[in-house]
Amino acid sequence: MLFIRSTLVLLVLAFNLQCSWAFSDYLLKTCAQSGFCHRNRQYASNIQESKRSPYSIDPSHLIFNDPLHTLRGTVVKRIPQENGSEQVIELPFTLDLLEGSKAHFTIDELRDPVNVKEPLNTRRYNETLSWALHESANLFPTPNVKVTKPKSLSRDKQLILKSEDKSIKMKLHLKTFKIEVFYMEDLVMTINDRMLLNLEHLRKPENNAENKLPEEIIFNDFHDDFQYSREDTIPFGPESVALDLTFNGMENVYGIPEHADSLRLKDTTDSDPYRLFNVDVFEYNTDSKMPMYGAIPLMIGTRPGVSAGVFWANAADTWIDIKYDESNTKTHWISEAGIIDVIIFFAETPLEITKAYTNLTGTPSLPLLSAVGYHQCRWNYNDERDVLTVDYEMDKAEIPYDFIWLDLEYTEDKKYFTWKPEAFPNPQKMLKKLWKVGRNMVTLIDPHIKVGYDISETIERSGTAVKNSINEIYHGHCWPGESIWIDSFSRKAQGVWGKFVSKFVKNANNLFIWNDMNEPSIFSGPETTAPKDLLHDGGYEERSVHNLYGLTLHETTYNSLKQGYAKENKRPFVLTRAFFAGSQRSAATWTGDNVANWDYLKISIPMCLTNNIAGFPFIGADIAGFSGNPSDELLVRWYQTGMWYPFFRAHAHIDTLRREPYLLKESVKSIVRDVIRLRYALLPTFYTAFHDASVSGVPVMNPIFYEKPTLEETYRIDDEFYLGRSGLLVKPVTEEGCMSTQVFFPPGIFYDYFTLQSFSMEKSGYRDVDVSEETLPLFIEGGHIIVRKDRYRRSARLMARDPFTLLIAPNATQEASGNLYVDDGETYSYQEGNYLDVLFTLKDGILESSISHYPADRSLGSNLIEDIIIATPNFQKPSGTILIQQGDMRKEVNVQVDPYHRYFKIPNPLLEIGKPWTILF
Ligand code: GLC
Repeated sequence: MLFIRSTLVLLVLAFNLQCSWAFSDYLLKTCAQSGFCHRNRQYASNIQESKRSPYSIDPSHLIFNDPLHTLRGTVVKRIPQENGSEQVIELPFTLDLLEGSKAHFTIDELRDPVNVKEPLNTRRYNETLSWALHESANLFPTPNVKVTKPKSLSRDKQLILKSEDKSIKMKLHLKTFKIEVFYMEDLVMTINDRMLLNLEHLRKPENNAENKLPEEIIFNDFHDDFQYSREDTIPFGPESVALDLTFNGMENVYGIPEHADSLRLKDTTDSDPYRLFNVDVFEYNTDSKMPMYGAIPLMIGTRPGVSAGVFWANAADTWIDIKYDESNTKTHWISEAGIIDVIIFFAETPLEITKAYTNLTGTPSLPLLSAVGYHQCRWNYNDERDVLTVDYEMDKAEIPYDFIWLDLEYTEDKKYFTWKPEAFPNPQKMLKKLWKVGRNMVTLIDPHIKVGYDISETIERSGTAVKNSINEIYHGHCWPGESIWIDSFSRKAQGVWGKFVSKFVKNANNLFIWNDMNEPSIFSGPETTAPKDLLHDGGYEERSVHNLYGLTLHETTYNSLKQGYAKENKRPFVLTRAFFAGSQRSAATWTGDNVANWDYLKISIPMCLTNNIAGFPFIGADIAGFSGNPSDELLVRWYQTGMWYPFFRAHAHIDTLRREPYLLKESVKSIVRDVIRLRYALLPTFYTAFHDASVSGVPVMNPIFYEKPTLEETYRIDDEFYLGRSGLLVKPVTEEGCMSTQVFFPPGIFYDYFTLQSFSMEKSGYRDVDVSEETLPLFIEGGHIIVRKDRYRRSARLMARDPFTLLIAPNATQEASGNLYVDDGETYSYQEGNYLDVLFTLKDGILESSISHYPADRSLGSNLIEDIIIATPNFQKPSGTILIQQGDMRKEVNVQVDPYHRYFKIPNPLLEIGKPWTILF
């Protein structure tokens, strides 16, 4: 009997393991279970009824023309008391109009130190921006803001602030702290429109009641009854901040990654709000607002002609409600701690908002060229022989790749910065073998450090571990069992980590690092992460800085690697799972532990697009699903989709079957091989897109509405995208058994990438496109020139000397243009000007190349162009010969026409890519 029962249990378990790929929802709080979220949602609904704002601006405290700030003042919170009097809380605020149609405002609280116990810092955490912003970002107010104020300032008056260029006007209502923001005289945003501003000021449990506004409720203020959070000491009591912002006349908002949801954010009226709280969500839910590994509190709203952005610079647990209402989008931002610190952006297009945001938080760093290639990963490659076998088999199958990855098990007993000696007796030798063909290795190094070996002991001794609420070293559980965590907020910890990293990569030049589990993931912690009352450098609680932790770690790793590779001047590669605003400066990321099924393939596209518009384009999803074993069809479709992810990596769970591309059956293998080779052929175009991103923040995977912001019908498309600004338009197949799909095209001429067959769209709309197993819908928009390298090589580095192919796709007026960026792909010498920048144009029957920047090392430009392919029929094949000129070289050649008359070709024009040339048709 017992035997039958236990077999049944095992069977049920096995069934669950195989069939229910889903996250365990009970691990995470819902808004109703989260004290501050529930309190603020309730507050919002009560304020809608009372229509009374307890917050106003004290007119007597306003300071204008302060040399540092445009406007400083005090927001006053008035709390009616039972005896009819009022308790008055003063909250300092600042408001700056910034250069380039931006504004920055803060609301803080001055807290009485006597209420707070050492070593806690009394101050509300206000350093989020110093982590998020780029070193040299400038938040200086624009000079000459014009302030119009009434003769006598009283509470029911308004102030008007105008930037000198008149692009921004802000109308500040003193009575309710409502701010109307006009961009080019158009009301685009209203701050505190619905009076949801709320700052829970410091109080003691015994006088909590008299510190409540009539609209506020008492719920989990000084304790937490969520089953995994009961031990939270909540030393400050309730301290949330909240505010509403309305995007006027806009019915579409985007951003706030990371969520496994559509690109256009959904209305949250009948669900939980979107939550930003970095957590480990193994097999996360799709179509969900649940929190994930990363958080970028940037939201972008758009309508034709105007776009707006909100950057909510707060790293605490945050919930965001969205309501699409009568052509406006109403948003409500709720954070558990910290200050209100917001930058708002205005521009004509959403792309300009992304650019302005990355101008402040830093553009994505230019990766190693090889990192733009294909990454082969699995949990785990077991030993040196396994690694070298994969390496050998990939070559044998003639499938290019650039990075091979080692997951957790390469370490000795999960002790980071060590190698399992019997499996990896000589890592240096292995790395050298890989480097012979330009290949790199990435090893996993997580922030949880097993207790009881030299690395953890050094951290303990140096006082650089994260502490618990009573200021002792915090111990929790993760992969190695009992562990401590490095407090990478502290400079000292950064130095200590730096030494570990330098020692680890010493004598190597192709060894890089993957920081995983850095939300941080803590198996024994509440909501799979750190207790909120842990203490970090400066006496700040985890509660206030949580979403920044991952950034502090991967940035430290990046800086350490950079130092370690200083002699070679080499660019580091770091992969991080957790991220925050600013992470793009030093890492790549991925969408975490997905599952090998069609839903996860589909959702990977909007997830990557969202990160791309939020300034962090170097992202991909595990191909072909981390958990589970994909069918051949799913695997093929996943490679066809994944080759467009900026970060192109195959990865798989330790329990899955091996699926390295060379192991696939012949018919599948050859499709996957072609897909990976297509990525490599397009590496020059991809790398140019990465370079554009590193200069201006333009996405690498670019939503259609980013390219066509005036076409409102593109605002909800998130299964199609452009590769950067290249004109390549992709609609991956993400449906099982799909033989035909509908593809949206803007007006213009389009070419099928593979056949060069063209068609013209008078106006935008959908077309049915047939697909086969081998092909994916890929088009070139007329007007673009695509640059390729068509020869198969084993790795990106081995392609360095290869010739280029130009593919010219003329538009209706027989014009086209395209860019190419080239550098050494490995070092920082491009920052000293060692790069080549070429512009190709076709106009008035002349195809020419002009050089906008010459490299110091002229060999970078010595590659030849081996083919020029010009798509017809929009460009007539020349009747006689054509004239080619470069420097003193002049020659006349005949063109070759393809049998279907879809293109003609100039074979072997023998032009050097790094010198200007002209072709006359
Ligand atoms: C986490 C990562 C996954 C990795 C595993 C083991 O689940 O998300 O990619 O393989 O840890 O290190």
